[in-house]
Amino acid sequence: MTHITSILQEIRSFPPPTAFQSQAHIKSVEEYEALWEHAKAHPDLFWAEQAASVLTWDRPWQETLLNKGMESQWFVGGQLNASVNCLDRHLDTQGDKVALIAEGEPGEVRELTYRQLHREVCKVANALQSLGIQKGDVVSIYMPMVPELVIAVLACARLGVMHSVVFAGFSAEALRNRNEDAKAKLLITADGLYRRGAIVPLKETVDQSLRGVSSVKNVLVYRRTGAPIAMEPGRDLWWHDLVPSQSEVCVPVSVESEHPLFLLYTSGSTGKPKGIVHTTAGYLLGTALTHRYIFDLKPTDRYWCTADVGWITGHSYVIYGPLCNGTTVVLYEGAPNFPDWGRFWKIIEKHGVTQFYTAPTAIRSLMQQGDAWPAQYDLSSLRLLGTVGEPINPKAWLWFHEKIGKTRCPIVDTWWQTETGAIMIAPLPGAISTKPGCATRPFFGIVPDIVDRQGHSLGDNEGGLLVIRQPWPSMLRTIHGDHERFLDQYCKVIPGEVYFTGDGARRDSDGDYWILGRVDDVLNVAGHRLSTMEIESALVSHPSVAEAAVVGKPDEVRGEAICCFVTLKGDAIPGEELLKELKIHVVDQIGALARPEEIRFVQALPKTRSGKIMRRLLRDLAAGRQITGDVSTLEDLATLDTIRAASAEDDM
Ligand code: WT7
Repeated sequence: MTHITSILQEIRSFPPPTAFQSQAHIKSVEEYEALWEHAKAHPDLFWAEQAASVLTWDRPWQETLLNKGMESQWFVGGQLNASVNCLDRHLDTQGDKVALIAEGEPGEVRELTYRQLHREVCKVANALQSLGIQKGDVVSIYMPMVPELVIAVLACARLGVMHSVVFAGFSAEALRNRNEDAKAKLLITADGLYRRGAIVPLKETVDQSLRGVSSVKNVLVYRRTGAPIAMEPGRDLWWHDLVPSQSEVCVPVSVESEHPLFLLYTSGSTGKPKGIVHTTAGYLLGTALTHRYIFDLKPTDRYWCTADVGWITGHSYVIYGPLCNGTTVVLYEGAPNFPDWGRFWKIIEKHGVTQFYTAPTAIRSLMQQGDAWPAQYDLSSLRLLGTVGEPINPKAWLWFHEKIGKTRCPIVDTWWQTETGAIMIAPLPGAISTKPGCATRPFFGIVPDIVDRQGHSLGDNEGGLLVIRQPWPSMLRTIHGDHERFLDQYCKVIPGEVYFTGDGARRDSDGDYWILGRVDDVLNVAGHRLSTMEIESALVSHPSVAEAAVVGKPDEVRGEAICCFVTLKGDAIPGEELLKELKIHVVDQIGALARPEEIRFVQALPKTRSGKIMRRLLRDLAAGRQITGDVSTLEDLATLDTIRAASAEDDM
């Protein structure tokens, strides 16, 4: 796929509201363009200026950018500590400012000032040290969205220990794979978490994941729900037994700029999940700078990003960016519809939220519940809205703009990836006119382009592959344990020294970028990247399944829904029972977020002569579309008819 036809032609444009513009950090498109051009022409200079003003250093760097194409190293020779940048340096100036406003799903609210957060982080860091954890180790974190999750993350950072946060919705199997790949020594978890009024027994899942051989020597358990759990003597320790007695003083470990800060697993199109590695200085700089400008941060803001810390958005825009900037951050543990669909709006009213950053899939579900829910609450504290994770459809954008932002709040549609660490393309809210469904302009220092498979730049409005032409500080450095895969998937796909994003996009005649979605076999379900490969291997691991092909089909709320085509082994009986069993099986293997919407039993899968499954055809079938395009490479045309026939039966 070289040229991508873009069907959506949105022409509405919304200039920054005047009241917002007059107080913004960047107030005009001219100001934005001048700074963007400066950063493009002199990246070393620009990033050096920013690194000096945004971060606190223990030792200055010598070399701003050491570059072997996309294998870049930033601020070489410099030393710093991420937890110092998020906490210690605020203590003298604003130690008593609230850092976290944490609301649990049952409704209780805890506030922690920067001083209190610092104290807790030091204690947990000392507790980790008492367990023999040190610089270079990996600690895995599998926790609910409570302050202790943030504390655990920053305690790792304080010691130069890499954290690997695993989203608490992942299954035991997924957690096990990630722990094994990361060789995590310690796992920090909780007895459970609250979700839609029920208790999710996290510790049970952890115990399952640790059965058999594991690198994990200890499990540190935070008591969240108080429900009874099993503790394995010698391995499991209670947070409340170990942490409170620790010293409140913990000397931070000063690390090199390029020291890895964390690992975060994300889906690729082939093979197992990839452990994306981010390093300390570049990542912190990228997140802090983008957070300040794109959310137009002010000292009195009360900022809320609804993303779970288990995803990159939670790392970059719940923890590192906001805390580096000394922001008051709202943290919410639970579901958007507990006890009812007014919960998000109630949180905004109650805590006076100024910036609200969420996912299009959440906006669509909230929109479906009707306007009466937001109308019940006072949302006048809001001054900016943000979206992330997938393209937002204009209908949802306009609803967000009118019913939540009351046409007063700019919407920043932020395009980026786990790999990019920080936002890459988004409107600067006081400078750039927004368009529904459009991520608009690149951030300072980011040089995107739209190219064909050969790497040639395409013209305005020609859909193609989105690449980044210059390295940037917060980019991933490698895939944990597989540097070749890093080079193959990001650096070598497109000729020329460019980073390949895996997304299609087009640039319009105003220079605005429109993201068209992923071009590889990766689904975007509710804003989460899921690998079709992983779901397929989960299906095939079931004794009744011979072969499986997974594709996405359009879904009004979640963007894409998972549709599976499955061939069965000789004696297996297709039917409702097996269908249910397979759905449960996938959830067990990966987690509830991968639950198939639809499973179709078929006689055979459509394959090319070389044996490659023709997903394009399956995608058409799943969406109920006519099959279009070339079928000449299909090995056996008859398979299509049988699948079609089977699908028609399903529809009846
Ligand atoms: C993929 C990255 C980055 C945080 C969340 C997801 C899609 C992300 C947008 C947006 C259109 C978007 C892309 C991207 N995506 N933001 N504003 N408009 N698409 O992180 O799991 O690494 O997924 O999400 O396809 O490549 P991720």
